[in-house]
Parts: sequence; structure tokens; C-alpha cells
Amino acid sequence: MKKITLALNWKLYLNELESIEFVEKINHSKNQFDLIDLEIYPSATAIRSVRNVLNHSSIKIGLQDFSIFEKGAFTGSLSLSSIEIDCCIVGHSERRDFYNENDNLILKKLQISNAKKISTILCVGESLNEKEEGLSKERIKSQLSILKNLDIQIPLTIAYEPIWAIGTGEVPSKEYISDMLSTIKSELNTLYSHEKNSALRLFYGGSVDETNIRNLSDIVLLDGFLIGSAGSKFEKLMKMVNNLI
Ligand code: PGA
Repeated sequence: MKKITLALNWKLYLNELESIEFVEKINHSKNQFDLIDLEIYPSATAIRSVRNVLNHSSIKIGLQDFSIFEKGAFTGSLSLSSIEIDCCIVGHSERRDFYNENDNLILKKLQISNAKKISTILCVGESLNEKEEGLSKERIKSQLSILKNLDIQIPLTIAYEPIWAIGTGEVPSKEYISDMLSTIKSELNTLYSHEKNSALRLFYGGSVDETNIRNLSDIVLLDGFLIGSAGSKFEKLMKMVNNLI
């Protein structure tokens, strides 16, 4: 079985103390976690504690989002320079929907993480309406079109996350996901050289849990999963890991 990456997007699920308790449990189950690639995206306020407590140097720690402003009079913001991190997420649908982030802003964030050479997950995905109107691929292509303005220098991951699958328990069929990942791959082929493209990773996200992860993991183009709710519960994470190794 190929090595799959699990990227845990903890959203606003775990506070600092709960995040520490979670990584202490990871420390106690070290052997299983040696066999998979793990990235953890805690609340920004928990990043330092998670890094200090985590006894596992190969697990990467990242920011769920960041401001385009680097430093200065920007109340409530944090930037890629605010705290030491290995990776980041941009363009999550919750940022697009609840904070009105548009493709222009998302491109600026990508340009910043690219310039700082920080490994980045770019999220794309269609809404239920777009799916029902047969516009899923159009939507993905338009979200990916910002990449033509990016001379990519970093390990970039595209996470395909249909909005209708996030937090709903509804998971697309493997055929549907494969078809969307192929569309993403061919769009990337038009934008980047073969060499750059082979370094890009493709993830799926949306209601991934211990009941479906193994079945989804054999999708040929898939390199990993972006996991929200199930990844914030240690017992579920252990089941997912055990189902993959
Ligand atoms: P979910 O969230 O696993 O809770 O559906 C996925 C995501 O938003 O990245």
C-alpha cells in the first residue's frame, strides 16, 4: 500500500490544553505514527505548545490560515512570520464562505507562502448547487486558474474538498473523486512542467473518517487526506491510522 499523508485540520475544535492532551497521546503511540506521514494544523494559539510537547520530529505542524499582512497595525491578524511552522493551508472553503476570501486574496497568500518556501495546501471544491448544475469541473478549473500567476517553488498540495461533503457525512464515490482529481491533474499539466507537476500532491477532504479511509486510499491519484472532525478525536485518528498501515 502506498504511503498516505494525513493532514489534520483541527479548525476551532481543540483549545491549547486539549491540543496538548492530544499530542501526548500521539507520543504514547509513537510506533504507529512512524508508519504514516502526519501534518497537524492546530489553532494558532496552540502551535507552540504542540511543537514543544510533540515527541515526533517527522510530524509537521502548520497554520490553518494567515493574513497577507506581514507585520504592523493589523489587529487580530497573524502572518507566516508570527510563529515557527512547517506548512500552511490556504483557500479553505470555510475561509472563502465565512470570511469572504476570494481568489485574488488566495493568490496573494499563495505568493507569500511560495516566496517563504513554506509547503502549502490549496483547497478547491464545488458547492452543492454547482454540483447539481453540472458545474463542478468549471468551478475547480476557475479556482485553479490563479496558479498561472504563481511560479511555484514549494511543495504544493491541491486538496479537493467538495463543500457539500465537508462535515456532512456525505462522501463522493471513488469514481467521482478520481474524475475530479484527474481534472485537477490535467489542469496542472497545462500550467507546469512535468518536473514541477510530479512534485505536486493531490489530497481529498470531506467527511473522511475511520469507516471510509481505507476504501478511499486506493484512489490512484491520491497522495493524502485533509481531515477535519474525525482528525480532532484521537480514537478516530488511531482507527484511521490502523486502517492504513
Ligand atoms: P471534515 O472537514 O473532515 O470535518 O468533513 C474537512 C475539511 O474541512 O478539511
